[in-house]
Formats: sequence, structure tokens, C-alpha cells
Amino acid sequence: MSIQKASGAKVQIAKDGPYTVTGDLPLSKQTIGTNSAGESVKWVEGQAYPTRGAYALCRCGHSAKKPFCDGAHAKVGFDGTETASREPYEKQATISQGPTMSLTDAEKLCAFARFCDPHGQVWNLVNETDDPGARKNFVREAGDCPSGRLVAWDNSTGQSIEPTYEPSVGLIEDPAKKCSGPIWLRGGVQVIGSDGFHYEVRNRVTLCRCGASQNKPFCDGTHASIKFKDE
Ligand code: SF4
Ligand code: FES
Repeated sequence: MSIQKASGAKVQIAKDGPYTVTGDLPLSKQTIGTNSAGESVKWVEGQAYPTRGAYALCRCGHSAKKPFCDGAHAKVGFDGTETASREPYEKQATISQGPTMSLTDAEKLCAFARFCDPHGQVWNLVNETDDPGARKNFVREAGDCPSGRLVAWDNSTGQSIEPTYEPSVGLIEDPAKKCSGPIWLRGGVQVIGSDGFHYEVRNRVTLCRCGASQNKPFCDGTHASIKFKDE
């Protein structure tokens, strides 16, 4: 089992308020790129925002200065209660064992980015991982899952296979569903709850920025059903 190293960068959650990001983390749009069948197949790096030092990102979905906080959470009476499980990922996840690789899955963390769908879905691909082509697709699909709901594991080493990310913050855009998605923390960013709780440090997590997730502070895909737009 591998444990993600903390990068030193932090996101502090304010009670019913924004996320304050410290550690000079770059901030950019990250768009879900699709193939001709409309399937999610690649991440496309987009606009970079100039940031210096600490910055506060909107968590309620109502700021007029998105992605930054403008204090709107107080005016709209935002309830940002953190309801997500605080158990480590591996305790929340179920495991599917394939011939050469395994898949862990913590369904509640799904951000609805759909990288798990092509090639017959990642839950089927894991059972075909004795085939090199299927194994390659399996590893890519699990690694492209932005929320870290899905993780690929090598059965022979017992290690997870994670993409390499510099510590950074992404703002997900989903043109196929005509909506904006969550805040994507990559590369081992420490998230600290409004009560001081230190969430498990992971290589990939997605934080709700539409204000409507039932699994705060994490995204649960609700932004797609409410057609949240970062405009
Ligand atoms: S967040 Fe992960 S599990 Fe959810 S749809 Fe996207 S790739 Fe699949
Ligand atoms: S941004 Fe995904 S549920 Fe809020």
C-alpha cells in the first residue's frame, strides 16, 4: 500500500465559507475532453489564473467573482456542514480483484467525470487485466478519475498506480454536460476541516464548489444535475 506524501500545500475550509488555499498552488481550468462518441478520454489544461500566496475559492456557488470568494456565502446563508466520511479512503472502498490488477472504489466520492466508462467500463476491464491492452486502458481510466474514487493496484507489488501530479488546483469544466465541476486538488494537498480535522492526504480529491453536494466538502456530482456554471 502506498501513502501519498503531503506537499506542504493546504486548503483550509471556513465554517459556512470559502476554501483558503496556501502554499503558492497554481490554479487553472481543467476541461474534460471527449472522443467522437462523447466519452471522457483526456484532460485538457486550460486558462491559468494569476495567483500569489494565499487565495480564497468560492464554496457556496454564489460568488460573482468565481472562482474566488466575494463574501456571498454570508448573504445567501450558505450551510457548508461537512458531512463526508472521515475514514481513510481504503476503509471506505470496496475492492475488485482481477488477474493482474485490482480496483478499489469509494462510490460516495464520485464527481461524475465519466473517465471510467470507455472500453466497457473500468469495473469490467479489471477482470481482463491479463490482456496488456485492457490493462493499459484500466490503469489510465482509474488514474484519470479526478476524485480518487477509483484507484488501480498492481497485484504483484501491492502498490497503487497513481498519476504524477505537481501540487496544484484545477477547476473542472464539463462541456459535454454543459456545466462546471468541482475543485480538483492534485499532488498531495492537505485539506483541513472547519473544525481543524485533517483529512487524509491523497494524490487526487475533488471539492464541491457548487454548494449543493450532499457529501461536503467533497463533490458528489450534483453540479451536473443543477447545471452549475462558473461564469
Ligand atoms: S469521478 Fe471517477 S468514478 Fe466518478 S464518473 Fe468520474 S471517473 Fe468515474
Ligand atoms: S461541485 Fe460537484 S457537487 Fe458541487
